[in-house]
Amino acid sequence: MTGEALLDVRAVSRQFEGFWAVRGVSFTVPQHQIAGLIGPNGAGKTTLFNVVTRYLPPSGGEIYFAGTRLDTLPTYSAPGLGLVRTFQISRVFSRMTVLENMLFAAPGQVGEGLLGALLAPRRVARQEKELRERAMDLLRYFRLDHMAQNYAGALSGGQRKLLEMARALMLNPRMLLLDEPMAGVNPALKEQLLDYILDLRSKGITFLLIEHDIDMIMRICDRILVMAQGELIADGTPDQVRRDPRVIDAYLGASQ
Ligand SMILES: Nc1ncnc2c1ncn2[C@@H]1O[C@H](COP(=O)(O)OP(=O)(O)O)[C@@H](O)[C@H]1O
Ligand SMILES: [Mg+2]
Repeated sequence: MTGEALLDVRAVSRQFEGFWAVRGVSFTVPQHQIAGLIGPNGAGKTTLFNVVTRYLPPSGGEIYFAGTRLDTLPTYSAPGLGLVRTFQISRVFSRMTVLENMLFAAPGQVGEGLLGALLAPRRVARQEKELRERAMDLLRYFRLDHMAQNYAGALSGGQRKLLEMARALMLNPRMLLLDEPMAGVNPALKEQLLDYILDLRSKGITFLLIEHDIDMIMRICDRILVMAQGELIADGTPDQVRRDPRVIDAYLGASQ
């Protein structure tokens, strides 16, 4: 592992039937950093997330998380190592209660299922109690505790975003990858989300987030990665990136 990099992505590529959605992308994210990933639609940001978090195998390259090589591990093994992501499209279950959504997110538990319940009923009961307490603590933190018994379908768009963050935190992440956490969120809630991200960073969580609101991302991120047409075209502080002619051409210019 290089230096104190928590995430180390080396020459990662992903192709879909000959089309390179991500090509030769390398970067590291040190612990406790808030890194932003920007780029026009179709640049390959979500695909990069999918590959980095082991939802999709890469076509080439290597990924290390906390010194462990990820890309050779089985699919879906990232959360167990502390690398957790949220999705661009909400995955909240509308017909479950808010609390059930939280418990459903919890990692594979000891004594799960009937056999476990028969063999170690007390352990299962204790674990369930701990998970519920953890879920309620997180719901309180996000001021959703009063909604715990409501169907998640009754939440506002903004509250859903908060529930997604809360659910990701059930997995005890060291690093959170957020795919457009502020999309479709009103300005007041954006500020709230931003405060939560800063507070969670102060509690030790490292972030990589995809975001379209350039002002937001420039304010919150220590560091910005820019993708265009599958490639990483810039990697620097918000000020460096803002002035980079390639970024202005590929992205900022187009959106202004
Ligand atoms: N499963 C897939 N199969 C084929 N093409 C895909 C798939 N996922 C993404 N792509 C293509 O890869 C490119 C990058 O997409 P994506 O990673 O979603 O971009 P972004 O998140 O930056 O908007 C797009 O051209 C998209 O159509
Ligand atoms: Mg995307």
